[in-house]
Amino acid sequence: MNQPSGPIRTPRRRFLQSAGLTALTGALASRSAWLPTARAQTAPGPVVVASGNGLQAAAKAMELLQQGRDALDAVIAGVNLVEDDPKDNSVGYGGLPNEEGVVELDASVMHGPTGRGGAVAALRNVRYASRVARLVMERTDHVLLVGEGALKFAKAHGFREEELLTDAARETWLRWKETLSNQDDWLPPHTIDTLDVGQNVKQALRHYGTINCNALDQQGGLSGCTTTSGLAFKIPGRVGDSPILGAGLWVDNGVGAAGSTGRGEANLLACSSVMIVEWMRSGQSPEDACLSACKRIAQQTKMKRLLDEQGRPKFNVSFYALNRRGQFGGASLWRGMRFAVNTGEQASRLVDAAYLY
Ligand code: GLY
Repeated sequence: MNQPSGPIRTPRRRFLQSAGLTALTGALASRSAWLPTARAQTAPGPVVVASGNGLQAAAKAMELLQQGRDALDAVIAGVNLVEDDPKDNSVGYGGLPNEEGVVELDASVMHGPTGRGGAVAALRNVRYASRVARLVMERTDHVLLVGEGALKFAKAHGFREEELLTDAARETWLRWKETLSNQDDWLPPHTIDTLDVGQNVKQALRHYGTINCNALDQQGGLSGCTTTSGLAFKIPGRVGDSPILGAGLWVDNGVGAAGSTGRGEANLLACSSVMIVEWMRSGQSPEDACLSACKRIAQQTKMKRLLDEQGRPKFNVSFYALNRRGQFGGASLWRGMRFAVNTGEQASRLVDAAYLY
């Protein structure tokens, strides 16, 4: 959460002038803790916004959007690159396993123009969780399939079962297992004041990496996808926010799209993605809406074991949002996060996310 912040920021004056928002100077001046990083864009699409590990995914998605393809085709083709990448140990093939050494994937998709969504959770042995989520949306009357049922469904559609655990991920898991203490996800009875349970487990090895990718296509269609191997070394069957529509992803074609990465448990208790879209509907910019979600999570976190000595959450959650006018933004609880953007004019780039702390 404390990675160094990157240097790229839109100078406030230029942002305000280019966005024609000079009248808002006074209002923004009061928010000195952060500067706007979003780029206002008046012509709709194509635009892609993704989490910081999505530079190539955003470029791939843009390639498809520029061919006139639907935003859902674009975001899935983009995230498939990360699901295929053994070096990204938070998504798909090469993802870090659960506490028993088994990789379990979560994913969701939403297609704005048709108002549909699909998701899978705790899916084993199939790397393209995003594609299976899309099939749940297109080829069932359901929205979410989990575990064994999700795997059987994927196999019915021709997906091959494969071992997703790479040697590198297995060795990382083994190191964790071999040094396991009594501070893990199994919590003894505790109260709001208890400090010495959970959240202390070798945080350097564990993480909540994920990719979220949202796009606006040339037809004005919005879609998004979030896909992940979830929390490293989780209790088998643990499902995070990524496959839960409204939490890890939400798309409303008339408003915008939003998604998340980071501590899914916090986001599951806030349903932030649907809230971000609703805050955009009520007039907030994508970046402001993402910050509102961060503030909500900070307000809602009351268990002292999750808070530092200043009462701030000890974890991070990041949000990415895109509205139907092509404006985008991102925010995290903690500074130092960046997100990927591709507007078709140049290569994908990383933009600093706004932050609370
Ligand atoms: N945000 C990903 C997870 O918690 O699984």
